[in-house]
Amino acid sequence: MSPILSVRGLTVCYPNADQPAVDGVGFDLEPGATIAVVGESGSGKSTVALALSRLLNPAVSIRADALTFEGRDLLGLRREALRRLRARRIAMIFQSPFGSWNPSRTIGAQLVDGLRAAGLWPDRRERLLELLKRVGIDDPERRLGDYPHRFSGGMLQRAMIAGALVTEPSLLVADEPTSALDATVQAEILEILDELRKEQNLALMLISHDLGVVARVAQHTLVLYRGQVVESGPTAALYRHAGHPYTQGLLAAVPRLEGPRKTPLPAMPQGTATRGGCVFASRCPRAEDLCRTSAPSPRHLNGTDVACHFAEDVRREPIWRW
Ligand SMILES: Nc1ncnc2c1ncn2[C@@H]1O[C@H](COP(=O)(O)OP(=O)(O)OP(=O)(O)O)[C@@H](O)[C@H]1O
Ligand SMILES: [Mg+2]
Repeated sequence: MSPILSVRGLTVCYPNADQPAVDGVGFDLEPGATIAVVGESGSGKSTVALALSRLLNPAVSIRADALTFEGRDLLGLRREALRRLRARRIAMIFQSPFGSWNPSRTIGAQLVDGLRAAGLWPDRRERLLELLKRVGIDDPERRLGDYPHRFSGGMLQRAMIAGALVTEPSLLVADEPTSALDATVQAEILEILDELRKEQNLALMLISHDLGVVARVAQHTLVLYRGQVVESGPTAALYRHAGHPYTQGLLAAVPRLEGPRKTPLPAMPQGTATRGGCVFASRCPRAEDLCRTSAPSPRHLNGTDVACHFAEDVRREPIWRW
């Protein structure tokens, strides 16, 4: 099967930044599959998402060896073609349920705007009502007349998902779609997203700072650190044989059912950027001189691609237990 989205060497620089926010990122996404992009705050997750739908300000530099969606070069698309693509084929939902809605207009009016922009109003009216029910909004016809303040955060996020999927996109990029919500609602919403993915053969890119949240639904995971992919692979392999100290740290920070939530990345102080060496060297307890002078290229090892000079040792003797 050919990938719906293919990314190679994606590099994004904000104006006046001294290093790229996204640095050489590459991955493929198959139709109907889910990829998780994880990393701490500032690792470049949202920048990857925004670069894909070219929602970044034109002053931001985006380069890539390849950036193709449904076989088309996203970087070469003209404004109108890009607008059509974003209205119909690529949908995005963001973290803040409140920030994504205009407080002075009804939920229904805002959902209709999206359909109008896609040229699908009023044809998809029934489908919208169906989807709203499907994501857990009872009596949708009445609720569409409500203003956002009458909805809870979870309800706004459900309505956002219905609005995003009613155009039948082939890719949904969800940037921390549940991190503002409590754990039960978070799990319900991920479950709904996963079901709709299967029903609509939707490819899903799920962004999260919490590996635990995405592990249940993503077949493939990409771990970002300072804009670089430090490890990627099938999620199950990443869990079982994390070979990068940073992945191990993220896994150790995942909250457990049987215990209290661990402090995120307890033993990793914030590091400074190391020029020429491994991006993680200044935070890594395992780092040696080699790590500070030479950047490791990703290597395939026991199921994952890992960019660490000492991945074999790290895998044998994990730095953080999870
Ligand atoms: N508009 C901007 N202008 C300049 N720098 C930016 C801008 N947006 C993000 N950055 C920088 O780019 C880097 C990556 O940021 P990004 O928002 O992509 O990270 P993130 O992984 O999504 O973080 P979070 O988990 O906090 O959402 C950070 O160093 C950030 O400071
Ligand atoms: Mg972000």
